[in-house]
Amino acid sequence: MDKFVINGGCRLHGDVQVSGAKNSALPIMAASLLADGPCTISSLPDLRDVRTMANLLGQLGCEVSSTGEGKVQIVTADESSSHAKYDLVRQMRASICVLGPLLAKRRQARVAMPGGCAIGSRPVDLHLRGISALGAHVELDGGDIVASADKLKGAEIFLGGPFGSTVLGTANVMMAATLAEGQTVIESAACEPEIADLAEFLKSIGAKISGAGTPRIVIEGVDGLAGAEHVVIPDRIEAGTFMIAAAATNGQVKLSNVRMDHMVAVTDKLRQIGVNVEADNGAVSASSARRLTPIDATTQPYPGFPTDLQAQLIVLLCLADGNSVVTEKIHPDRFMHVSELLRMGANIRKEGPTAIVTGVNALVGAPVMASDLRASAALVIAGLIARGRTTISRVYHIDRGYERIEKKLRALGAEIDRVSD
Ligand code: EPU
Repeated sequence: MDKFVINGGCRLHGDVQVSGAKNSALPIMAASLLADGPCTISSLPDLRDVRTMANLLGQLGCEVSSTGEGKVQIVTADESSSHAKYDLVRQMRASICVLGPLLAKRRQARVAMPGGCAIGSRPVDLHLRGISALGAHVELDGGDIVASADKLKGAEIFLGGPFGSTVLGTANVMMAATLAEGQTVIESAACEPEIADLAEFLKSIGAKISGAGTPRIVIEGVDGLAGAEHVVIPDRIEAGTFMIAAAATNGQVKLSNVRMDHMVAVTDKLRQIGVNVEADNGAVSASSARRLTPIDATTQPYPGFPTDLQAQLIVLLCLADGNSVVTEKIHPDRFMHVSELLRMGANIRKEGPTAIVTGVNALVGAPVMASDLRASAALVIAGLIARGRTTISRVYHIDRGYERIEKKLRALGAEIDRVSD
């Protein structure tokens, strides 16, 4: 297992290119199961999760071939197996998004039930309610979700849950509805840019969808879908992570391939803290004022502040001049990074889904353990600002969602090395 060894104290300086969005790429790759022709997807990030999805599609009879840097072609060669097995699903919860396409295209799907993970229990009841409303028969068998339908029929479906809508649930129902008979209306749909990007891909292969990116999505079912080419949107979470890293190290970083319209809540919070964020023609630079102001922040569904940047934000707030209050409204148990940050000298008190962060003069390097993707990114930022050496073990978590993060950081001046045990 690899570790990162970081010598803290460098200010990040320079330019970095943001990769394509993982959380867009995964459902779009799954959606190619719906197509009768070849689908070419570009600006795919080179990540472990993307490779897992490619393996899963291979298990489901697709030929996935790389056609150049960040570009793959997906062709369905054999529709005889519709079983997404536990060995791959347990590696990546996003495997659940093959459920809707398999059901719509092959009329049956057997997908291992994803378990919980380090960020909480993460049920899939809304996904199942959604496909049931389209007429699928759904049961659990041996730890698998087994869904079948002779014919899916459009319906009105409400996808609101106790923590807001569901991103991959919206993706699943939207994908299933593309080939259903008649009209489907999804109310309380997730509004994330990744849903809008998936809808753009689906429209390019012939689906009839309107309203994606708003809480009401309308899908008119069609008889069949063709192949197409699609470019994945930039990763707003990677962009936010680098902006926070720049600010935390008191550096100055210019990011390219950023959609500022996807970053409004993030830039708003960063500016409140005292980070200078300047956008210019597809690029954005982030640099920090010497004094950081404490803030209150609550994670919310898009367009609110994203849960996937909560851990990184907490690290930045460790350097602010006073008490900040960060409340997690999407994954209330997503605070595994807090106990590791305490080992580095942070002053954070947790009360239920809220972290009260009191700024300290400095963090100090320590051996810490990555527990999930975004917590790992937070620990990397903590290591960059800490005095002395930080060793982060289990960095396979970060490889799931950040393309060559140590190379990108080294190019910005960070002292970070990957070492094998
Ligand atoms: N929920 C339910 N029932 C469901 C589905 C979700 O109660 O059937 C709850 C969840 O437990 C959670 C909330 O609803 O409290 C939102 O979950 P959602 O379904 O939206 O999460 P997801 O679609 O499984 C995606 C991202 C996550 C991101 C969340 C929220 C992908 C591959 N994953 O997950 O990203 O945190 O949306 O924005 O798109 C990450 O990239 O590190 C990551 C975890």
